[in-house]
Amino acid sequence: MKASLFDRQGVPIKIGKEIARGGEGAILEIQGHPKYVAKVYHKPVFEAKAAKLNAMVDTKTARLVELAAWPVEVIQDGDGHVVGVVLPKILDYKDIHLLYGPRSRMREFPTATWPFLIRTAANLARAFSAIHEAGHVIGDVNDKVALVSEKSIVKLIDCDSFQVNADKKLYPCDVGVLTHQPPEFQGVKTFRGLRRTKNHDNFGLSVLIFQLLFMARHPFSGSYEGPEDMPIEKAIKEYRYVYGPDAANKKMKPPPHAIMPTALPPEMRELFERAFAEGSDKKMRPAAKEWVVALEELFSAVTKCKTNPSHSFILRNGPCPFCALESTTCSALFNLPVLFQTKEGRQRTALINIGTIWKEIRTVKPPGKLAPFQQMTEGKALPKPASKFIYYVSSLAIIITAIGLAHSTDNASLALLGVIPPLWLFSRGNSSRAGRSRKRFTQVELRWKALVSPREFLKYHAKLVEAKKALNNLGDEHERKMKDVHSSKHQDQLDCWLDKHKIAPGEIKGISSAALAILQSYGIETAKDLKRKSLAEVPTIGSARVKALMAWRLQLEKKFMFDPGKGVDPMAIASVGREIDMKRAELVQLLAEGPAKLKHIARQTHLRRVALKTEFDTICDTAVAA
Ligand SMILES: Nc1ncnc2c1ncn2[C@@H]1O[C@H](COP(=O)(O)OP(=O)(O)OP(=O)(O)O)[C@@H](O)[C@H]1O
Ligand SMILES: [Mg+2]
Repeated sequence: MKASLFDRQGVPIKIGKEIARGGEGAILEIQGHPKYVAKVYHKPVFEAKAAKLNAMVDTKTARLVELAAWPVEVIQDGDGHVVGVVLPKILDYKDIHLLYGPRSRMREFPTATWPFLIRTAANLARAFSAIHEAGHVIGDVNDKVALVSEKSIVKLIDCDSFQVNADKKLYPCDVGVLTHQPPEFQGVKTFRGLRRTKNHDNFGLSVLIFQLLFMARHPFSGSYEGPEDMPIEKAIKEYRYVYGPDAANKKMKPPPHAIMPTALPPEMRELFERAFAEGSDKKMRPAAKEWVVALEELFSAVTKCKTNPSHSFILRNGPCPFCALESTTCSALFNLPVLFQTKEGRQRTALINIGTIWKEIRTVKPPGKLAPFQQMTEGKALPKPASKFIYYVSSLAIIITAIGLAHSTDNASLALLGVIPPLWLFSRGNSSRAGRSRKRFTQVELRWKALVSPREFLKYHAKLVEAKKALNNLGDEHERKMKDVHSSKHQDQLDCWLDKHKIAPGEIKGISSAALAILQSYGIETAKDLKRKSLAEVPTIGSARVKALMAWRLQLEKKFMFDPGKGVDPMAIASVGREIDMKRAELVQLLAEGPAKLKHIARQTHLRRVALKTEFDTICDTAVAA
């Protein structure tokens, strides 16, 4: 931007580098004003739009500037023509649609979970409410209407397109994206000149909230059983809310792998029905303020899932819907924060995505099948077992010749003695060479057979499958353990009661201070410690005393009153939680290492097979040469 630009008082505005760009204008830095940006329009600004921008600046409030990129100043060129506006700078926020799509969410908002989405939805409704309270209407509600911070703060953008109510005049909103426009606007030729109301905005807001809560699903996108096409715009126009009570009548079915609104409390389901039902154009759709209250209630009603702590859900509505969806689609919806132990022994939190890891595990190819050894040896010259015949015969001949020599001196025997020993030595060498070769061959055969099936790979893969199963079952395991904790409530209370009764000298027949000292030296101090087995280990206690002690314990047991209303030991609950957390961390770590380890095993198996084949060929070549 080379031309000189000024604010309304004629103070120069120095434009810096461009940071974003839309269809209407470019967003640029302002030198010396790091908290603001300039939106400079691509085309000349007409008078009506210039008047609207001036009116917006004049009616700005602290609340509007806090919740939206509301224009705070007008930018003019040297001739006094409006060319843009100054907006509060929104730094490090991201488009709201990146948050509700599971894949982009896990990338762009790695720590976001369902409560984060609920809170964002509440903040979005809060921002809508602020605009409505100031008398304006957003009009062009769409998936780029808001930016979200990593703390779920929401800021509305593109405010210059809003329908602004200032100086007793309405400055219109001339645009609209049909996926977020109400049924009454579907099929309109143009938005120009249409009067927008809060009730229209409330439709778009409800769609955005639905998308935030239900993993980007649009409330009017589903399977249609009729013969014609059913694009979203048509479905909106005909009030075919896919999850509504009237959906079946309207031949609509939810798409596969959708989280159903039954995951919500009934009051909230009703809000969606009111927003999308037939007649909602005439009655009031849920207002932004109503959504704020309902979403805050939902936020406090959700419970963390025991199987997967990246999930939260309404416990009283049944099992965790996110676990069910993740296990059918094998895709994660949220990242799982897990505590890891680094090599240096430090604890570190890592965001793990089990769905992605599992997909990666499934893509690792197992090493193919190795040809059976027998098939390899067909038609090949193989090393034979060494012939022992010549060796035995020449050995025998040497012995006989030696005996003969001892008794005679004829030349024949002497000659035989010159021939036979070399023959013996040769056969001996030959036999040991063949033996070595045969031994090597047998070893290769054994190793080959061990490598025919990729046993190591399959074993490790099965271990990962088990780990995934165990991870999925952690919730059940937690529940089982908690049941055990609760069912031991009776025993715990009884133990507690007995433990309160100390063995005192003189109270029990035959128990003197001396006897008590002996008992104490064996760790027996209260009625709880009195068990026949432990008493049997105490020398000199005698059967009469044992009888008396056990009778005293029995008496106390009879007096014990169980209180079912009394809670379980919080330490026991915490210890179950810790145990499950540790198990989860171990399983997740195993799975996280899975893809790399599987690939390594596959590669090692391949290399070992190549080496074995070379060895096999060498043996065969040597056998042919021999
Ligand atoms: N105040 C702001 N601070 C920082 N970035 C902003 C701000 N306002 C807008 N942006 C970024 O600039 C982009 C374009 O802004 P905006 O929607 O206002 O432009 P536009 O030209 O009116 O776009 P459209 O054609 O979609 O209406 C936004 O998507 C956003 O990423
Ligand atoms: Mg715009």
